[in-house]
Amino acid sequence: MSESIPENQASSGLRSVDLTSGLWPEVVGKFIETMPIEDRQAFGAGPSLVMELASGRLGRFEGLYDPGRAALVGMVGGWVLDYEAEIHLLYIRSLDRRRGFGRKLLASFLGNLDASGVRAAYLEVRESNKIARFLYYSLGFKLQGIRKNYYQNPNEDGLVMVREVSSGNESSVNNLHQEK
Ligand SMILES: CC(C)(COP(=O)(O)OP(=O)(O)OC[C@H]1O[C@@H](n2cnc3c(N)ncnc32)[C@H](O)[C@@H]1OP(=O)(O)O)[C@@H](O)C(=O)NCCC(=O)NCCS
Repeated sequence: MSESIPENQASSGLRSVDLTSGLWPEVVGKFIETMPIEDRQAFGAGPSLVMELASGRLGRFEGLYDPGRAALVGMVGGWVLDYEAEIHLLYIRSLDRRRGFGRKLLASFLGNLDASGVRAAYLEVRESNKIARFLYYSLGFKLQGIRKNYYQNPNEDGLVMVREVSSGNESSVNNLHQEK
């Protein structure tokens, strides 16, 4: 007899999916419905995200899909313009956190950006979000600047972080701006 998968546990065999293709925007819509309302507001997950995914214009978004549960475990993505990416979203379902999925998902996303010639990835994070900051630092992001009181409810500084592609070109971000 096959063992049933506990509702709160992602199975092995997770796969990476392109959330801008096929029926994935709808799957993201369902995933968003399972997110706590405060998380939806804090991380910009709502109908406009689903529309952005469906339009597939600037956005590049990837998800970790659990076929055993027929559900997403998490998602990451943002915009890609020329050689720069702006990561707007990284989210792992709360019951699946602290199991290496956030690292796996972001590392895969960055690897795909690198492979497609993106030279710098930017993101912004609340100063108090130490968990995300640890993860970003460990994947090579560096602090680039501080946006004072950028966030509200509660008021807080935003940290702008950047990760350059290390293709033997140490100052790719500087070169990028000189080229423009
Ligand atoms: C940030 C987030 C994506 C991390 O996902 P995750 O799957 O739990 O992370 P992982 O298990 O892959 O851990 C990656 C690293 O994050 C850090 N981390 C994760 N959970 C942590 C915790 N509870 N305490 C301290 N550090 C933690 C560690 O550096 C960890 O690396 P390590 O395991 O080598 O120590 C997840 O917490 C999340 O979705 N949070 C809400 C959304 C959010 O804050 N997104 C970022 C917005 S900018």
